[in-house]
Amino acid sequence: MSRKITILLGSPRRNGNSDTLAGAFASGAAEAGYRTHSIRITGLKVGGCIDCRRCWTNGTHCFINDDMKEVYAHLDKSSVIVYASPLYFFSWSSQIKPLWDRMLPYSSVSTKVKMKGRRAVLIATAGDKDESSFAGLRKSFELASEYIGWKIAGELLASGLHGPDEAKERKDLLDRAFEMGKNL
Ligand SMILES: Cc1cc2nc3c(=O)[nH]c(=O)nc-3n(C[C@H](O)[C@H](O)[C@H](O)COP(=O)(O)O)c2cc1C
Repeated sequence: MSRKITILLGSPRRNGNSDTLAGAFASGAAEAGYRTHSIRITGLKVGGCIDCRRCWTNGTHCFINDDMKEVYAHLDKSSVIVYASPLYFFSWSSQIKPLWDRMLPYSSVSTKVKMKGRRAVLIATAGDKDESSFAGLRKSFELASEYIGWKIAGELLASGLHGPDEAKERKDLLDRAFEMGKNL
C-alpha cells in the first residue's frame, strides 16, 4: 500500500484550529516517511450524493461531474485519509459532510477501488470544553469508517478552541497531532 495521505480540510476558516492541527499531523506523518496532500474543501465545487445508484456505471466513481473527481483521484492512491473538521452543531461541518456522502462508490459492490485495509484519522475541533460534545461526530466517524472498510488510525478531539488562532497556542494539542502522524 502507498505511503500517501489525503487530508480533507473541512473548515471554512483558513489557518483555523482544525487546519493548524492537521498541519501538525502532516509534519509528523512526513517525518514517518509519508507524502501528504491536503485538500481545502471550501472553494471546491462538490455537491451531495443524489442517490442515482449509478456508481461506476460509466466506468468512473460517480456520475456527478464536479470537483469530487480530483478528490477521488487522490483517495484512490492514499493508504490513509484524514477528516479534519470543526464541530458544527455536534456534527460535521457542512463543507465536509457532502464528501462523506460521496464515499458511496467505495462501498458499492462494484467498486473498482477497495478501501479495506486502508486507514482513517479524525481531527476535530470544538469551542466547548466538554469532550462529550464530540460523541455524535465520533460515533458517525467510527460507524462510517467501519462501513467503508477503513481501520481507525487515530482520533484527536480538541475541545476548548474558539478563536481561529487558539490551537496555535496549545502545545499539548500540537504535540498530540504531530505524534499521531509520526506514529501512523
Ligand atoms: C455554525 C457553527 C456551529 C458550531 N457548533 C459547535 C458545537 O456544536 N459545539 C462546539 O463546541 N462548538 C461549536 N462551534 C465552534 C467551533 O467548533 C470551534 O470554534 C472550532 O474550534 C472551529 O474550528 P476551525 O477554526 O477549524 O474552524 C460551532 C461553530 C460554528 C461556526
